[in-house]
Amino acid sequence: MRPTALIPATCCLVALILSFLCLFAGHKKSFMEGYHLLTLNTSVLGETLLPEDRTSSNPILNLLNTIPNEISESINDQIGDATARLGIQDFYSAHMLNYCEGQYTPAEVPNATVSESDISKNVTSCGKSRAMYRFDPTQIIQNALSKSGLNVSLKDLKWPEDIQSGIDALNALMSAMFVLYVLAICLIFVTLVAAVFAILTSGRLSACLNFVVAILAFLAIGLASALVTAVMIKGTGVINQYGNDIGLEAKWGGKFLALTWAATALMFVVVVVWVVEVCVGRRKKTTYAKHG
Ligand SMILES: *[C@@H]1O[C@H](CO)[C@@H](O)[C@H](O)[C@H]1NC(C)=O
Ligand SMILES: *[C@@H]1O[C@H](CO)[C@@H](O)[C@H](O)[C@H]1NC(C)=O
Ligand SMILES: *[C@@H]1O[C@H](CO)[C@@H](O)[C@H](O)[C@H]1NC(C)=O
Repeated sequence: MRPTALIPATCCLVALILSFLCLFAGHKKSFMEGYHLLTLNTSVLGETLLPEDRTSSNPILNLLNTIPNEISESINDQIGDATARLGIQDFYSAHMLNYCEGQYTPAEVPNATVSESDISKNVTSCGKSRAMYRFDPTQIIQNALSKSGLNVSLKDLKWPEDIQSGIDALNALMSAMFVLYVLAICLIFVTLVAAVFAILTSGRLSACLNFVVAILAFLAIGLASALVTAVMIKGTGVINQYGNDIGLEAKWGGKFLALTWAATALMFVVVVVWVVEVCVGRRKKTTYAKHG
């Protein structure tokens, strides 16, 4: 019997649940939607073109011209009109296995009566869950535009081409992240089983064995968390850098980070417990040797 092994066993169990949630958060409509990797706010896409010369031949301006041409105040009342007509949703949120889309309620942009915290996401649909899917905003917007039947292209929206290099890098890393999460889940499961065995048995060998699997699981979930953090920050950075000019805004998911780093911290505790167990085991053995 080794009652102290209850601590790593419990930590592993919680870490296992948390890593599962990381992988599956958002995979179904309205299931942990807040735990997105990043959300693309497309609600005012193209509307930054409004104050420009409204007589040019850009088809999006023709479209916007059908919105009453009054002073900017009344334009604010029309926020979301342009994108709605183009068939573009208010937001697109990327998760580990798919992406979802929907509308902001009750309004897209905070105003005097609606504060930012009052705005919530209303998910209208989510893609099929798929391992290593591609999150490609250019393709998403392109598809929406072609479906709208209006003669508006990405070029008319002034969609920045530089955004694509960032998106490609993001997708390459997304695949690596997926593999790391699956690996981490497997290793945490093995660590959990080993810890349960360690509760029932004792001896230094089992402590050593537990230490080895625990450190592997910790490295896998730690690497996955580090990678996901980098992808989020880099991805939102690139999209905001090139997209803000046309009203595109990206936000990274703080809740997802909390989830994945909590799992990592728990696995760190597991590693520490097994280091202590191995050391205590060694001291016991040398004491026995002296006395025996
Ligand atoms: C969406 O983006 C626009 C433009 O950057 C911003 O004004 C608005 O507050 C954002 N809406 C939400 C709900 O984040
Ligand atoms: C703020 O937005 C809401 C929802 O679109 C609207 O009903 C309300 O009248 C707006 N308030 C102001 C002061 O513009
Ligand atoms: C969310 O969207 C659906 C369909 O568009 C709509 O019926 C529902 O009322 C919306 N919910 C909220 C809270 O706005």
